[in-house]
Order: sequence, then C-alpha cells, then structure tokens
Amino acid sequence: MCNSHKPLASADVGSGLEPAEGPFSLKDEKSYAAWRAAKLTAYPKTAAELRVTIGDLASPTPRERQALRILCARANMALYDAGPLGSDPVKVRPALRALADSLNMQHVEDHRSSGADGIVEIEVADEGGRAGYIPYSTRPISWHTDGYYNYHGPSRCVQAMVLHCVRDAADGGINGLLDHDIAYIRLRDRDPAFIAALMHPEAMTIPPGEEAHGRPRAANTGPVFFVDPATGALVMRYTARKRNISWRQDETTRRALEALEEILETDPLVLTYKMQPGEGMVCNNVLHSRTGFDNRDAAAGRLLYRVRYYGRVGA
Ligand SMILES: [Fe+2]
Repeated sequence: MCNSHKPLASADVGSGLEPAEGPFSLKDEKSYAAWRAAKLTAYPKTAAELRVTIGDLASPTPRERQALRILCARANMALYDAGPLGSDPVKVRPALRALADSLNMQHVEDHRSSGADGIVEIEVADEGGRAGYIPYSTRPISWHTDGYYNYHGPSRCVQAMVLHCVRDAADGGINGLLDHDIAYIRLRDRDPAFIAALMHPEAMTIPPGEEAHGRPRAANTGPVFFVDPATGALVMRYTARKRNISWRQDETTRRALEALEEILETDPLVLTYKMQPGEGMVCNNVLHSRTGFDNRDAAAGRLLYRVRYYGRVGA
C-alpha cells in the first residue's frame, strides 16, 4: 500500500543527509509527489524501450546522443546497439571513451584493474590481480551499485558508467536492472523513515580489508542514498552481499534493507536483459545484478568492457 503522504515523526527527520527542500526532502511532500508522478509516468516498462541504435559508436549523431540522454533522464540508463563494429575489441576501446566524452562523461575513476584508457575487462580471470573476485568469475553477482566500497563524498564516488559487451556467454550472464530512483520511491512509499535511515551518513560500512597485492584498505563508511550537490540528482550506494559489510545497528535500517531486498526480488519495474556482442549500457550507476554464466568455450568467453566515471551522464 502506498503511504507516501504519511507524516514522518519529527524524531526521524534530521538524522541523515536529507536536503531541506526538493523531491528528496522528507519535509517537502509536495515536491516529492510531483517528482514521483513524473518519474513513474515516464519510466520504461520494457528493456526494448531503453534501446537506442548507434551507427558509429565512436561518433554518435546528435539525435543518438539526445536519445541516450533522454533515456538517462527517464530511467538513469540507456541500452545501445552499436552493430558489428561494437564487437571488435581494437575499435571498441577508443570508441567507448569517445562515446562517453560525447555525453560529457569525463572524470574516469581510477581503478586498480583498468588499462591506460581506464577500461576494465570484465571476464573470467584465473590469475593476476582480478583473480578471486566475483566479477571476474562465472558466479552470479547480487544487486549492487558500482563502487559502493569506495565512497569519498558525492564528488568522489562512481556516479556513472559505460558497460559494453564484446562477447556474451554461451549461457547466462543476464543483467537485472532497476533505476535507484524507483527503489527510493518504493521505499519512501512504504515508510519515509526507511529513507531517513538510509540517508544516514553512517548507514553502511565496508570494514577494513586487503586489496589485491596485499595493500591494506581502510574502512569505508557512508550513506546509501544521497543527493549530488552538483546536479540535485539522487545517488545510491548499495550491495546486497552479506559478507564484508556492516550496516548501522538500528531497527529501521534493518527493516529498510529487508524491504529493499523484497523490492529487488519482486518489483514489476525490474528489467532483465542479456547484452549481445556490440551492445552496451550507459547509466547513472543504477542498481544491477548478474546471473551466473557458462562460457563452454573458455578461449572466447564472456567479455565486457567497463569504464566508470565520477559525475553523471550529460552533466
Ligand atoms: Fe557492477
């Protein structure tokens, strides 16, 4: 049941990072209601609605760029189909950066596994720095946003990425996709106190650990939802994983996480899509998951290229 107009107990307000006004303020019900209605009306109901055909990945036309931008405004993501060129690894690498440049995505995240061009190869890796991490195996990846373990404030966290399929798996490797704006709406509709709990600056902590090559990594603490001060957009930091994660010990946080898990399991707006060679996604770091996969022929297994950015698509 929607109880978005339920007043929030005053004790719940002000504990987190919620802004004083605008759609993401728990005190500004009017702005929220208008934003919510517009979002749900415009939200794509099928993956097909998210697709844009791009003639030349390295140089999308103004019309193609506009289509990608509009979809990112509607759903924080767009799927594209760049045809056969899109599966030629040599041509794709520079083309991906050019595509992102054309969408004003410029500040590439520094990632330990990226090449000089900032591109990380997501494939099965049995040795080297990527070995032992789930993304570089055939195992499923539970719901998450990228870079949740590396939050250093809104201007230094992953807010956007390009994910491009060079080769798909023989079986599986299907992505689940949900705009985090929708997750926010579902949670706020259930109980605004869930939002206050998840905007708490200490909602989620990744305990200290070890990076590849034994380099120590400090604990990383931050909110789940926060507003990007540069654009006023909502950003989300989340992982459904149960290990190596420490949630703020609070009953409302616990119930909010339970509700979020259920939403990701059952919401009719969760889309699934298996990217084919030459296809990709441009997004504002939406919630996503991946099913496990089977390469069968290991020599030419599933290969995705990924570039992550600080800042948003088109911002
Ligand atoms: Fe991811």
